[in-house]
Amino acid sequence: MTADPETLSPTAAKAEMKLLAASLNAANTAYHRADTPEISDAKYDAMKARLQALEAAHPDLSDPNSPTQSVGAPPAEGFTKIRHRVPMLSLSNAFTDEDVADFADQIRRFLSLGDETVALTAEPKIDGVSLALRYEWGKLVEAATRGDGAEGENVTANARTISDVPHQLDGDVPEVFEVRGEVYMANADFAAMNEDQVAKGEKVYANPRNFAAGSLRQLDPSITASRPLKFFAYAWGDVSALPAETQSGVVAAFADWGLPTNPLMQRFEDLDALLAHYRSIEGQRSSLGYDIDGVVYKVDRLDWQGRLGFRSNNPRWAIAHKFPAELASTILEGIDIQVGRTGALSPVARLAPVTVGGVVVSNATLHNEDYIDGVDANGAPIREGGRLMIGDTVRIYRAGDVIPKVTEIDTTKPRGTVPFLFPEICPACDAPAVRDPGEAVRRCTIGFACPAQAVEQLKHFVSRGAMDIDGLGAKQIEAFHADGLITEPADIFTLRTRLDAGQIDLFRRDAKGRPTNQKSVDNLLDAIDACRKPELARFIFALGIRHVGETTAGLFARQFTSWQGFSSAMTAAGNDPEARDQVVDIDGVGEVMADAVIAFFADEGSIAAMERLMGEVAPVDAEAQSTDSPVAGKTVVFTGTLEQMSRAEAKAKAESLGAKVSGSVSTKTDLLVAGPGAGSKLKKATDLEIETLTEEEWLALIG
Ligand code: IVH
Repeated sequence: MTADPETLSPTAAKAEMKLLAASLNAANTAYHRADTPEISDAKYDAMKARLQALEAAHPDLSDPNSPTQSVGAPPAEGFTKIRHRVPMLSLSNAFTDEDVADFADQIRRFLSLGDETVALTAEPKIDGVSLALRYEWGKLVEAATRGDGAEGENVTANARTISDVPHQLDGDVPEVFEVRGEVYMANADFAAMNEDQVAKGEKVYANPRNFAAGSLRQLDPSITASRPLKFFAYAWGDVSALPAETQSGVVAAFADWGLPTNPLMQRFEDLDALLAHYRSIEGQRSSLGYDIDGVVYKVDRLDWQGRLGFRSNNPRWAIAHKFPAELASTILEGIDIQVGRTGALSPVARLAPVTVGGVVVSNATLHNEDYIDGVDANGAPIREGGRLMIGDTVRIYRAGDVIPKVTEIDTTKPRGTVPFLFPEICPACDAPAVRDPGEAVRRCTIGFACPAQAVEQLKHFVSRGAMDIDGLGAKQIEAFHADGLITEPADIFTLRTRLDAGQIDLFRRDAKGRPTNQKSVDNLLDAIDACRKPELARFIFALGIRHVGETTAGLFARQFTSWQGFSSAMTAAGNDPEARDQVVDIDGVGEVMADAVIAFFADEGSIAAMERLMGEVAPVDAEAQSTDSPVAGKTVVFTGTLEQMSRAEAKAKAESLGAKVSGSVSTKTDLLVAGPGAGSKLKKATDLEIETLTEEEWLALIG
């Protein structure tokens, strides 16, 4: 597709334009429905540029509905949202037997168990999509996808078409019971369905998981019904009562109620037997008939699960023991440099396409320039073969959804000969890119003034965990930015007024002067308006401050509860060491994060951009920590030996009641809980006249 557009015959041009338009439309749709691996940005841009060139050369052949004429895809009209009453979390991973032993040890320590046996269940980790099924009085009333864990999509009509999903549970089922499990497609069904799709000229899916996800998220339930989906029940969410006191007992009840459960689930009291079961499942992997990517272990006793509780995003009582990642070998054809939202220059390997784990991979991360040079931060070699050369054969691996990585050079193959020179200027804006002493990463130095950083920041701002603006995804941000319509977050919210005032032409016009996509413009502007009152935590996360992820943003939101409180504390912290100490002291924050936020609030460019943004949005105050507990909002320090529970459990419990747990005693401390052997902290607390409790008194206080 490289012929000069000017010299192409109208017939050839038209055929190529049609093909390009179809591919771009498909890519836009895939982008919106995250169930299809998308084509690379570079390829998308190249196709769009080619189509634009053809349209310019053959204006008479141009289609007013061409994907070059609208900004991105029409917003996906879709499912209503369902807020999960109990969040749908993910699992932490173990990769080695040692990781599993550590998991068991941590449980033992957290629960301060002596010789008591910790029974664990082990079952396959199904590589599908999770689904929550709400039963009331045994009757299926609602089904939701996981979504972002807090809010999923209402796919009730679709779930009802899955034959494995009972509409009515049998037997003695609690009043409310939300069953959770995995929807998947068997390998044989996947192969047959994909063949059908080819025959019908419809979309082909990369693997059974994508096919299952795509099938569950059909707007037309009759399409879901035509797809052979299956289901395994393995967990639960909101329930009015539980049918047993153990994980294995509840799953046995699931089976009695008529829900499909995995036959390979077993309970173990001995770690060696558990690991033997892992190897046995791994051995059966290729003959199971459905994809699995590891084995999930769960603490069997539910009272212990309750005490172990959750970290920010996963339970302490379960872990996924993943199977080793799949490896493949391919040629390194080149290295591209991507500029991230914090200015980091990341090298990306361009690879001869190769299939790994059912997905075609054509690029992989190369981490940083030292990695390309084959050395670690101290200059010591990190692999055989030394410096990576273009033309080398490299081994790559892919584990689950993780971006593929290059692991080593295949030194048995002829070596490449072209060295790669890591740029010292930003490829996006030509500003100097520098590496601070001790840092592995080279960064562009001009922040938001760099177009690549600005675009990445904007993409982050609208992304799912952040402002989550329907219909305004990465592709649209790129297009709006390229057209100069959005250069900073505030611009998103002024689109409507600028459009109404005739200052901008949001969408190009068709031959009759009408906007080509009035409906999508309206939908987009409505979706933007709907986001003018974001939750404080989302808003803080959306700002894209270095080191401030969703968890930290949540901490800040709970701590300061209002935008005003947060921003003035951060500004103050830039001027006053004591105010800075208070930020550093927030449990889970620390020096590096505090300094990043303080730097953000001290930067003139970001202050001005935030002022403009605050003219457009009003973040909703966060709920203060639960105030109905006697320790909510108090800063507690534990010292000495605790006898009833481990330090970790005590800390988790205190935090769940809204207390802040600190490691050191200061004037900010409200309570010291001192066990036997307490020393200097107890003395300091006494000197500062801080209230001191024994462990028993503490337990009595929190009930
Ligand atoms: S238990 C609190 N058991 O893996 C989490 N999850 O990485 C409870 N999954 O979102 C999940 N097989 O979609 C559990 N046997 C199994 C599973 C399983 C697959 C998925 C599930 C979850 C993801 C977590």
